[in-house]
Amino acid sequence: MKDQHEESPRQPLRAWLDFYEELGLTPLYRRPPRPGREKPTPVLEPTPAAVFPPVAASLPPTLSLFGEAAGRIEGDTLDRIRAEIGDCQRCKLAPHRKTIVYGSGHPRAQLVFVGEAPGADEDLQGLPFVGRAGQLLTHWIESLGMTREDVYICNVIKCRPPGNRSPEKDEIETCSQFLVRQLDVIRPRLICCLGSVALQTLLGKSVSITRVRGQFFDYRGTKLFATFHPAYLLRNPNANRQVQEDLRTIRQFLS
Ligand code: URA
Repeated sequence: MKDQHEESPRQPLRAWLDFYEELGLTPLYRRPPRPGREKPTPVLEPTPAAVFPPVAASLPPTLSLFGEAAGRIEGDTLDRIRAEIGDCQRCKLAPHRKTIVYGSGHPRAQLVFVGEAPGADEDLQGLPFVGRAGQLLTHWIESLGMTREDVYICNVIKCRPPGNRSPEKDEIETCSQFLVRQLDVIRPRLICCLGSVALQTLLGKSVSITRVRGQFFDYRGTKLFATFHPAYLLRNPNANRQVQEDLRTIRQFLS
């Protein structure tokens, strides 16, 4: 018999609701009202698909991607990094954002999730992964026997790109130095990249998430792992089997 998840994306609403229920998403999600919605969102010039610069290229000279703990900034803290970011105007996203989404969770988390960029809900609330994709990520975390407070959640860039487009090369280059420092301070046992933007940024090279998900890499002396982005899963329910496999791998690694 054909699995319902293999049906076309045009399958009836009931089947989608059943699928989300299987994922554990029982309450229906409603996007909070957006203040200032009456103003049209300014849209930046369309650009070619995002290119992922090696993080090393964007790091200050004291930081290097290679070698255990190489270039860690002595005495760095999450508060200090946040203070340095300030009311950031370093890239062209600044005029479009409402809030800088720095990251949230346990400052000494064993597990860090790195997403791509804040969306509309995150931009409003100043917290990562609080929209529909975030609801699914929360469910994944709980399936690992943890809570959002046990892990740390952040993104490659800290400001919402207009229209939720992919982050661009210059934005990643400007912002990822702060992610690198956050990861250096937290020193988790495992970094889990959610989707290809996080993976390619931290690996510094172009790799296919479909090919390398579920595998471990080395990132500055820490294990790096990748699975699909929860937003991808919401659009492609067939990928749920692989994500469940990846969650089992993470659980085993941490146990
Ligand atoms: N998608 C992301 O990559 N990050 C968020 O914080 C929310 C959605």
